[in-house]
Amino acid sequence: MKLMSVKIGDFTAENNVFLAPLAGYTNYAFRRLCKGYGAGLCYTEMVSAKGLKYGSENTEELLYTDEYEGVAAAQIFGSDPDIMRAACENEKLAPFPIVDINMGCPVPKIYKNGEGSALLENPALAEKIVKECVKSGKIVTVKFRIGVRENEYITKEFAKRMEGAGASLLTVHGRTRDKMYAGEVHFEEIAAAKNAVDIPVIANGGVFSDADAENLLKKTGADGVMVARAALFDPQIFCELTGKERESKLATFEKQLKWTGQVCDERFTTVFMRKMAAFYVKGERGAAAFKERLFQAASPSEVLAIAKEIWK
Ligand SMILES: Cc1cc2nc3c(=O)[nH]c(=O)nc-3n(C[C@H](O)[C@H](O)[C@H](O)COP(=O)(O)O)c2cc1C
Repeated sequence: MKLMSVKIGDFTAENNVFLAPLAGYTNYAFRRLCKGYGAGLCYTEMVSAKGLKYGSENTEELLYTDEYEGVAAAQIFGSDPDIMRAACENEKLAPFPIVDINMGCPVPKIYKNGEGSALLENPALAEKIVKECVKSGKIVTVKFRIGVRENEYITKEFAKRMEGAGASLLTVHGRTRDKMYAGEVHFEEIAAAKNAVDIPVIANGGVFSDADAENLLKKTGADGVMVARAALFDPQIFCELTGKERESKLATFEKQLKWTGQVCDERFTTVFMRKMAAFYVKGERGAAAFKERLFQAASPSEVLAIAKEIWK
């Protein structure tokens, strides 16, 4: 695909291929890996603004970053404008110059709380949240879906309101809440957002190859693409999309295991890397037997030893 830098407020992302926020996955190690493989900007998984306020234990791990990772964007969710602003001002977010507001999460618990995709139905509140967050001095971006229900798309109006409220970039996931992660991506809705605003628009949904990325850009006119699920199966998809040379699967796995272990305890690292290995092995011969063995591994070194056997 055609690479271009993207201006987000006063920050410039080197290229227009971004790693999406993925709850449970886009931790420090995962982001560092994808950045190394060429991603122009990587997002943390969504972090609760209330959790930050009340000092929830896991926010520390979710927001760990360092100079090896470079600049990343932190994504927060919530519905109270004051709490959202306080989150932006929280010292744990200090290393992140860009804060993305989640307006797309379809999970019932979040939606029923008036957070995530529920904000699509309350644009006045969404606008207020962005305005408050902007006051923190952070570069504020918004990731949203094209609506809650099929054929009731809010994309164009919503995009305009978010830009008016002070957002510096919009990411549009071209599906409604009802469709979760399935179904076709509505290119025309993403295009409508792009045509309605002057800030950059990143298109999201269904990119699993360079051809998908090119098609998405061509059909939407967007400024870039955001990749989510494809990166779980293959973080080196960013090499494919940015023209970098690939390395072995084992090299990816070893790095991810090492960096995860730098931030997380052994128990988490074991369970997380077992899960990652199960993603990486999908479609390979002997995958089922590999997964069975893997899920008995009791430590990061055991997980690595099994991975070395399969990917030697
Ligand atoms: C396991 C999982 C976790 C996700 N977590 C988040 C999240 O924390 N914040 C967010 O905005 N979107 C989240 N998403 C949505 C993705 O960022 C993305 O919008 C969606 O998967 C569509 O992109 P894709 O077709 O490339 O997967 C998540 C999706 C999945 C599958």
